[in-house]
Amino acid sequence: MSRKFYIETMGCQMNKSDTERLEGMFIELGYEKTDNHKDADFLIVSTCAIRQTSVDKAYSQLGVWGKRKKKNPDIKIGICGCAAELDKESLFKRMPYLDLIFGTHNIFKFPEFVKRVENGEKVCEITNIPYPEPEELKLNRANTVGAWIPIIEGCNNFCTYCVVPFTRGRERSRLPELIVKEVETAIKSGKKEITLLGQNVDSYGKDLHNPDITLANLLRKINAIEGKFRIRFVTSYPTDITDDLIEAVAQCDKVCEFFHIPMQSGNSRVLKAMNRRYDREQYFEIFKKIRNRFDEVEITSDFIAGFPGETEEEFLDTLSAIEELQIDYSNTAIYSPRPFTKAGKMTELFIPDKIKEERFKRLHEVNCKMTLLSNQKLVGKVYEVLCESQKEKKGRLMMNARTRTGKLVHFPSDKDLTGEFVNVKITKAQTWCLYAEQV
Ligand code: SAH
Ligand code: SF4
Ligand code: F3S
Repeated sequence: MSRKFYIETMGCQMNKSDTERLEGMFIELGYEKTDNHKDADFLIVSTCAIRQTSVDKAYSQLGVWGKRKKKNPDIKIGICGCAAELDKESLFKRMPYLDLIFGTHNIFKFPEFVKRVENGEKVCEITNIPYPEPEELKLNRANTVGAWIPIIEGCNNFCTYCVVPFTRGRERSRLPELIVKEVETAIKSGKKEITLLGQNVDSYGKDLHNPDITLANLLRKINAIEGKFRIRFVTSYPTDITDDLIEAVAQCDKVCEFFHIPMQSGNSRVLKAMNRRYDREQYFEIFKKIRNRFDEVEITSDFIAGFPGETEEEFLDTLSAIEELQIDYSNTAIYSPRPFTKAGKMTELFIPDKIKEERFKRLHEVNCKMTLLSNQKLVGKVYEVLCESQKEKKGRLMMNARTRTGKLVHFPSDKDLTGEFVNVKITKAQTWCLYAEQV
């Protein structure tokens, strides 16, 4: 009987992509995937460190598995991802039941790690030298309509609140040939949407020192691949979005009218303290340039409430930015001090939890208001949507689908249309979704 593995994936899409690679390598080693961690012989948690709550969640999961190991000492337990990258071998002391600790730079060394652990070794390998990607790697792709494909890893920006440069290292672009090949394989296997992924996708190619290798040109290359599918890319850094990129999105029929451009704060002083390379006015300019270039486009953002030293007036600038720009949707978060970061050391400027929470609540409310407004604009119009899954809701079979701009649409259908493009008319808007009927 083959041994079974279970990987619990936390954090962003980058971790999810890493998991597709790790699962592929596990399967090549003869392991079988299980969706129930109680059946697993080898358990791994892929961690996120963006906020302290993410780290706490990962460590409490490991604690549960550690208790199980007392009864069943043969199981193997590992940790990888961003929190592992920060805490390194100190985790062996905290969690003596761990067998394996590895970081974000050496996931392709995973088969060797597994073999060493199988031989009874305790392995901890964290390095900032990237371990090369094998030319042929079988991924165990998630069973979804779309595929997420990393194009650039790491970040050179060092925003003062953010731990990512310390967990994912410096920017490293994957070669365009590798990416195109991966897209072709995904399309051949039936994927209908490709999302190009990076902490900073607009920086794509800068480290490859060839002026022709840019995100805009990569989009054009992928757009030329045959088949009916959609292309997206996340995440964009406001001032790295070039006119050529905007034109590529406008020209390429498969590239969707969707930009995720985190602003983080609506106040120029706070943006400076965050080490973001733009002020309120520059962000507004870029945002409006994109809005004006398209008939319909979705622009989403991220905001942090309660950055150290943020005053009430400065916070109000964040709320007014969301309203003035009518930002379609924003991810919102309460500032969490992170190790190694500049802002994490500004302890005397920390905002009390109560105020942070209260600001977060108001941020959330404005965000909901704008999201609903953005959704309401679609009512009565017809859109082509890509169906993602079928679910029963109140005794009725409903499809979950998305517009090109990324909005979630539900419509009734007894037939499972997953993976198909369908035309629907929007009948009703709510904050988190739209309702429609097939036309
Ligand atoms: N590269 C992207 C963001 C990646 S991190 C960018 O530059 O915008 C994802 C989001 O997590 C960030 O946009 C930010 O809003 C949030 N975040 C990062 N560090 C945080 C912290 N210390 N506390 C709260 N939220 C944080
Ligand atoms: Fe973090 Fe800033 Fe890099 Fe985004 S650009 S990953 S927020 S350091
Ligand atoms: Fe978290 Fe690491 Fe992603 S810190 S958000 S898993 S890059």
